Parts: sequence; C-alpha cells; structure tokens
Amino acid sequence: MKIEDKLKHLEELNKQAQLGGGEKRIKAQHDKGKLTARERVDLLLDKGTFRETDKFVTHRCTDFGLEKNKILGDGVVAGYGKINGRTACVFSEDFTVFGGSLSKAYAEKICKLQDLALKMGCPIIGLKDSGGARIQEGVDSLAGYTDVFLKNVLSAGVVPQISAVMGPCAGGAVYSPAMTDFVIMVMGSLMFLTGPDVVKAATHEDVTFEELGGAMVHNEKSGVAHFAAESELECIELIKNLLSFIPNNNLEDPPFVESTDDINRMDKELDKIVPDSPNKPYDMHEVIKKLIDNGDFLEVHKHYAKNLIVGFAKFNGKSVGIVANQPAVLAGVLDIDSAMKGARFVRFCDCFNIPIVTFVDVPGFLPGTAQEWGGVIKNGAKLLYAFCEATVPRVTIITRKAYGGAYCVMSSKHTRADMNFAWPSAEIAVMGPAGAVKILYRKELKQAKDPKALEKKLVDEYTEKFANPFVTASKGYIDAIIKPSETRPRIIEALDMIENKRDTNPPRKHGNIPL
Ligand code: HXC
Repeated sequence: MKIEDKLKHLEELNKQAQLGGGEKRIKAQHDKGKLTARERVDLLLDKGTFRETDKFVTHRCTDFGLEKNKILGDGVVAGYGKINGRTACVFSEDFTVFGGSLSKAYAEKICKLQDLALKMGCPIIGLKDSGGARIQEGVDSLAGYTDVFLKNVLSAGVVPQISAVMGPCAGGAVYSPAMTDFVIMVMGSLMFLTGPDVVKAATHEDVTFEELGGAMVHNEKSGVAHFAAESELECIELIKNLLSFIPNNNLEDPPFVESTDDINRMDKELDKIVPDSPNKPYDMHEVIKKLIDNGDFLEVHKHYAKNLIVGFAKFNGKSVGIVANQPAVLAGVLDIDSAMKGARFVRFCDCFNIPIVTFVDVPGFLPGTAQEWGGVIKNGAKLLYAFCEATVPRVTIITRKAYGGAYCVMSSKHTRADMNFAWPSAEIAVMGPAGAVKILYRKELKQAKDPKALEKKLVDEYTEKFANPFVTASKGYIDAIIKPSETRPRIIEALDMIENKRDTNPPRKHGNIPL
C-alpha cells in the first residue's frame, strides 16, 4: 500500500471509529435525550485537548457470531486531555456498541488508562453508560471487570477517581464506581446489581428500574451516589467544579485561586445566629455560607443523611473540606448513615491534603433499637476512626452542643485536631442537663415533695456548670473562645498557621477501620 493510500485508510478508520455503533444507534441515543460517549468527552475536556488511546482496539470474542461484529474502539472511548488546563484521564462508555457492555478488550483499555493516571498522577474520570458484563464473553468479561476493580483499589488515595453515571450502570458495571471517590448520577440514569426481573423472581417484589436504582434512590436512600445532576451538561460542570477543589494526586496540594473575598470580613449576624433556646434549630448551611469565600459551597452527599453536612469550600482561596452537624435536621444528632458519610469524606480529604474545618452542634448519638441493631456502635466508630487517623490540618468550631461521645468524635482536640475554638454559646458535657439530672439525682427526685421544682433547680445548676465553654477552656481542651462574628478571620489565620503541619501515623500495612 502506498503511503497516500495508508493515510486514506487511516482517515477512513478514524471516521468509522467516530461512529461507534452506527448512525441508527446514535440517533436512538439522542432520542432518549442522551449524548454520545464522544460528545460527553468533548464537553468535559478543554477544546482540542483530547487525545484518544486504543481507538482501533476490537474485541476478540468468537462466540455467538460476535467474530463478524467487530466495532472499532469496542464500546469505550478512552484517552487523556486537559480540564481547565489540568491533565486528566477519561473513559466514556459507548452505549451504542453492544449496550456499552464490557469485554476483555474494553477492560484492557480502561486498565491502561488507570495505569497511566496512576503513573502521571492525574485524576481519572469514568463516564458510565453500560449494560454490564458483555454476556457473550463469559468469564473473560468477569476477568476484565476484576482487573479494573483491582486498579481502582490500587489508585484509591493516590489519584482522585470520579464516576459519572449517565445511563444504565448494570451488574458488574456498578463496582468500579462504587470504589471511586465520587459518584454523580444524572436524572434518568440507573445503578443496579440485578434488574427488576431478577428481583421479582427472587423476592416477588415488583419494582421499576427507577424505583430499584434511579438517581434519587442512590442519592437519598443508599448513599451510593454523592451527587445528583439534572442533566448531562450539569453533570459535566459538576465534575469540573469538583476538580477545582481537589489536587491532581496525593503528593500535590489542591489548586489555589486568589480569593476575592475579604479575609478579615466579620459578619455581625453570626453573633445572633444561635437561638437562645438550646432546643431551637438553626440552619448550619447559613453559618457555613457566611464564613467561606464568597459563600461558594460544593455540598457532597447533599440528599443523604442530612443531619450531617459535608462538602468543599475555600478559605482565602485554599480548599478545605467542611464537616458540620446540622441542627435543623434531627437536631444534628449523629447516626449510622451520617457517621459513614462523614467518615468517607474525612478520609478523602486526608488522602488528598485537604484541610478539614469542622462545625459542631451535636446532642449525641441517635438512640433506639434501629440504631443499636443496625450497628451504630461500629458505624459511629468509623467517623471517630477517620478523624483520629487524619493528619491534615484541622480546625474545629463548637457553635453550640457538644455532648457525650459525639463531642469526642467531632474532631475534638483529643483526636489530634490542631485548633479548636468554641463560641460563647457552646455547651460541652457528658450529656444534656435534663438527662443528667434524672440519672444523678434519681433518689432525691423520687423523695422530693415537689420533684418538678427540684428538677428545675438541679437542671439550672447543671446548665450553669456545663452548658458553656468555660469549663472546657479552663482545661485546655479548646484553644480559644471566639466571637461568632470573628470566626472567618480566625479560621483563615489558624489554617495559615498550620498550613505546613507534619503529622504521621505509625508505620503499618494498613489500619483496620471498623467496617
Ligand atoms: C451484551 C448487552 C448487554 C450485556 C445490553 N446489551 N446489555 N449485550 N451484554 N450485558 C445489548 C442489548 O442486547 C441490545 O442489543 C443493546 O445492548 C441495547 O440494549 P437494550 O436492552 O435494547 O437497551 P435498553 O432498553 O435501554 O436497556 C438497557 C439495559 C438492558 C437496562 C441496560 O439492556 C439490560 O437490562 N441489560 C442487561 C443488564 C444486566 O443484567 N447486566 C448484568 C450482566 S451480568 P441489540 O443488538 O438487541 O440492540 C454482570 C455480572 C458481572 O454484569 C459481575 C462482575 C463482578
């Protein structure tokens, strides 16, 4: 073949690969309101930066007549490029090719990219749209999936891994996202291990795909997904926003952007934000928004375990992870779901050098058989473990309640937090006044002529003694009592002071977090 003809041939192959499963299937994809794998990549990466790898790879299956049906690229578009100027690896599953199902060759393309991302130290993003293991390939497909899973695990904590589910994500397709740091689900997308037919046969439950594994199911109920996006475009923007808070790898710092928000900004409204009555709720989102740069908060797991807020923000242009009790939901109590949510987030921040700012207003752990039988002990311990293990700079602010075990857990001084502040409204004690008095003075209250009056007197005394931050401050368990209005400059100053903190954990194979 002459060089001229070879160039022509290359051009033809490129054209062919561009079409994936063909025009008819591309139309069907568009008719469902979905973009194609390539359109998604083009939107995610900076214009003209995408370099595709393994474009001409095909499957090697010779069963079920598949040997006659080879499609260039084999159902996944893979490569690298730039996102807002920073290098990233991307693979985008192509539903127009065998329903995006995974073959051994397809898995090898992803694995090569995972190796590249790990070596180069850049994030890897998977755009998911797949029917799962390619059934015709049998065990080769299972082998391929497991190779991807293994590399997900080896990459964890080294490079950020993000999964965006934009269509079905069925069967074996779910476990790779489940092991990545963040899962975004677009409305209309699905994640399920076994489909409705199998569910019906096994359990007689009659559910639709949506009820079984729709975007909101995994955002609200299971917690598998961290974000819900209304559209694919919103999802792509979300990925870019998320990346703006996190570094390329575990050896780098998160990106710095010059802040346009005054570092000395004091908000007098904060002095009035905590209600006088300890039982009145307030919205911790308001506190967070008033303190961070330009009120710009990227909440993670917004729809799940709303009694704890976690997410990314910046102070003086530098990324932080925020962990905060939410007194407006379940009075901010910690429970199984919120502890798991918090633990995973804290561990992400710790992996990727993102300082953690914690806001505490927590009456304790949620009581009840549902919680005890569900393992609130071991699950609550996850959050405790995560904070104790974290060596990134940490600042904690107790805004109101810090009771019992929840005081210990919420990045207390004793968990190696660096700067712990309390507002004058802080109440720090083993338990709340009403409960404490009932236990401490059971006999006296039983024998009293007027038990109600005695109880009130004892509650007042207990409150006077413990429902303030001064006892804790006198013992050095908090570093300073600060005015709410001066919190922003104090956090920024503290983060600046501890920026170069070095702390380590003892050498070991790995810790044993209570799973
Ligand atoms: C091979 C598949 C496939 C699969 C879909 N297709 N899934 N081919 N292997 N896993 C093919 C279809 O046959 C069809 O081909 C084309 O892709 C489009 O699929 P449709 O069903 O027409 O699309 P839609 O109606 O949108 O439904 C999408 C879907 C459904 C919900 C994903 O296809 C589905 O339920 N697929 C099976 C999902 C599943 O159970 N996967 C688990 C596999 S086992 P034609 O040519 O007819 O258009 C597994 C275990 C691995 O993954 C465990 C590893 C740890």
